[in-house]
Amino acid sequence: MYKIAVLPGDGIGKEVIEEALKVLDSVSEKYGIEFDIKKYLFGGCAIDEYGTPYPKETEEACLESDAILLGAVGGPKWDDLDGDKRPEAGLLALRKSLDVYANLRPAILFSSLKSASPLKDELLKDGLDVLVVRELTGGIYFGERGTEKIDYGYKAYDTEAYTTKEIERIAHIAFKAARNRKKKVTSVDKANILDSSRLWRKVVNEVSKEYPDVELNHQYIDNCSMQLIKDPSQFDVILTSNLFGDILSDEASQLTGSIGMLPSASLRGDKVGLYEPVHGSAPDIAGTKKANPLATILSVAMMLEYSFDRLDAANDIRKAVNELLEDGYRTPDLGSGIILNTEEMGDMVVKYLKR
Ligand code: NAD
Ligand code: IPM
Ligand code: MN
Repeated sequence: MYKIAVLPGDGIGKEVIEEALKVLDSVSEKYGIEFDIKKYLFGGCAIDEYGTPYPKETEEACLESDAILLGAVGGPKWDDLDGDKRPEAGLLALRKSLDVYANLRPAILFSSLKSASPLKDELLKDGLDVLVVRELTGGIYFGERGTEKIDYGYKAYDTEAYTTKEIERIAHIAFKAARNRKKKVTSVDKANILDSSRLWRKVVNEVSKEYPDVELNHQYIDNCSMQLIKDPSQFDVILTSNLFGDILSDEASQLTGSIGMLPSASLRGDKVGLYEPVHGSAPDIAGTKKANPLATILSVAMMLEYSFDRLDAANDIRKAVNELLEDGYRTPDLGSGIILNTEEMGDMVVKYLKR
C-alpha cells in the first residue's frame, strides 16, 4: 500500500488534480496496486483556513508519505501578501522540507502535437525530447534576501549562492539520466558574470570525469534560451540552477505545444518524490473547465515510475495520452481538434487506459 498525500492547491490546481486522481484510481484497478490517498490543504486555500500556506498537518502528512501529488498554488487573492506569507513561499518550504533537490522536467513533443508547437516542421523532424534537470532547493530561491529603506526609496536584494556539495549532487543526477538517454549533458550557467556560476561550471567539469561516456558542453543562459528555439534537437539533458531551470522549462514546454503538457518529478535520491505539473494555477482560466489536465496526469506516470517502480503502468498512461492525441482529442490550449473540457479529457485518458 503506497501512501500518497495530495495537495490540490488553488485555481486550476484543484481541477487538474481531480482528473489525475481518476487516472490513479483506474491504474489501481487495472494493475491491482493499492494507494492510500488523502487530500490536504496547501497554498492559498490553506492561508484562508489556517493563515499559513504549509500548515503543520499538511507537512506531517507529506513527511510520512511515499509520494506527494501537487496541483498548483497562488492567485491574485494572495498576491499582495508579504513574500514569506504567500502561497509560493509554502511551495518552497514544501520542497525544502522534503529535500527534493532534483527537479526533472521532461519536455517531450507528442508527434501529433507538431502543429501546436510554434516551431517550424523542419526543426521538429527528429521530434523533441529534452530533459531539464533543475536544481530545486538552493540558489537564489533560498539565498539571503531583504528590503531596506535607503536615502531615496528602498534597496531590495536576493542572493544566488551554491555550494560544491549542492552542485555535485544535482550534476550526478543529470549525468546518470543522460546515460539512459542520448548521453549528452548541456550545463547552463552565467559563468561569464557570476561567481556562483563559475563554481557551478568547475564542479560540473569535475563530476563529468566520472562519466566519460557522457558528452558535456556548457552554454550561457542567454545563448541557451535562443538555441532551444533555433535548434532544439542539439539538447538531450539540460543541467541548470533553480532560477534558470524555472525559466527554461516554461520555454521548453511551449515547444511541445503547451505548458499544459509538462510534468515534473522532484526527487532526493531515494524513492520519495514530489510530483507536480510545471504550470501554475492559471487564474485566467480557472473555473472555465479549459485547463489541460495532461501535465498532472503525466506527473502521475512519473510517480509510478520513480516512486513505485511501475514503469509498466507509467508507460501505459503515456501510451493512452499518445493515442488519444493521435485520435485528435485536445483541450483548447492544444489548438484545433475534437475539443474536450478538463473533465472530459480526464475521462478520455481513463477510457483509453481501459481499451
Ligand atoms: P501559469 O502557468 O499559471 O499560467 C501561464 C499561462 O499558461 C496562462 O495563460 C494559463 O492559462 C496557461 N496555462 C497554464 N497551465 C495550463 C493548463 N494546464 N492548461 C491550459 N493552459 C494553461 O503561470 P502564471 O500565470 O505566471 O502564474 C499564475 C499563478 O500560479 C501565480 O500565482 C504563480 O505564482 C503560480 N504558479 C504556481 C506554480 C506551482 O504551484 N507549481 C507554478 C507556476 C506558477
Ligand atoms: C514552478 C513555479 C514555482 C517556481 C513558483 C510558483 C515558486 O514557477 O514550479 O515552476 O518558481 O519554482
Ligand atoms: Mn515555473
